[in-house]
Formats: sequence, C-alpha cells, structure tokens
Amino acid sequence: MNKSDQDLINSAIEASKNYYAPYSKYQVGAALLTVGGEVFSSCNVEVCSYGLTDCAESSLISKAVSEGMVKKYGRKFIKEIAVVIADGGMPCGRCRQRIAEHCDDCKIISGNLKGEILKITSLKELLPDSFGPESLGII
Ligand code: THU
Repeated sequence: MNKSDQDLINSAIEASKNYYAPYSKYQVGAALLTVGGEVFSSCNVEVCSYGLTDCAESSLISKAVSEGMVKKYGRKFIKEIAVVIADGGMPCGRCRQRIAEHCDDCKIISGNLKGEILKITSLKELLPDSFGPESLGII
C-alpha cells in the first residue's frame, strides 16, 4: 500500500500521454493516492469553448469519485496528488478548491514530464484559510 512519490509521478506521466489539448497544446497529467492505497490518474481535457476545459486534477477527482471512492472512504478520500506539466507547475486555483473538497490536507507532488520531482508541498500550504464544507456546517 506504500506508493512512492516517484511511482505517483510516473502514473501521472502515463496518464498525461492521453491529454486532449488541441488548443493550448499543454500536456498535463495527474495521479492520486487514496487513503486506502488505490491509485487513479487522468489528463487535461479541453473544449473548444475554452472555459469548459477540465484540468487534469479536476478530471482526476471526477474519475475517482465516479469509481466509488467517496462511497468507500467518505468525502475525504485523497491522501496524495502528483501533477506533471512540461516544465513543472502547480495546480490552478480551481483545482486546489476541488482537492480541498476531498481532504483536510494532502501531500502535493509536482514534477515534469521527464519524471523529475520539482516540488513537494501540501494543500494547506497552497490553499491556506480555505473555504470548505465545514464552513457550511457540513463535515
Ligand atoms: N491545466 C491543468 O490540467 N491543470 C492545471 O493545474 C493548470 C492547467 C490545463 C488546462 C488546459 O488544458 C491547459 O492546462 C492550459 O491551461
């Protein structure tokens, strides 16, 4: 059940190869580790009406939820997320909020498409004082 940071980066790279980004040509992959040890991965999926594009992290979360992870572990099912972008990069603001929906905090590993790990951080560091379901009285 112990998936290394490098394994998670490698899963993200594999998924990034399926990226659909005819507009930006920007290849992104993401992979997550659940609290129970499952691994999911996904890529960015663009739409010609650009604002409808789904980031890799966002499509990843939809994939994991649709595969039953909330049913299995509850809302907070994410333990770690890896993101790979050509020269490295970090999850956008919308994706940070989407990640916050599914953990109190989690490890975030950023890498490039060559498999180098460039930064290891956490959601709390990237999205401090976040708005969450608990703000609505929902645990
Ligand atoms: N993108 C992601 O997949 N994740 C991010 O965190 C930032 C941006 C994608 C969306 C779009 O397909 C392309 O990168 C350029 O914005």
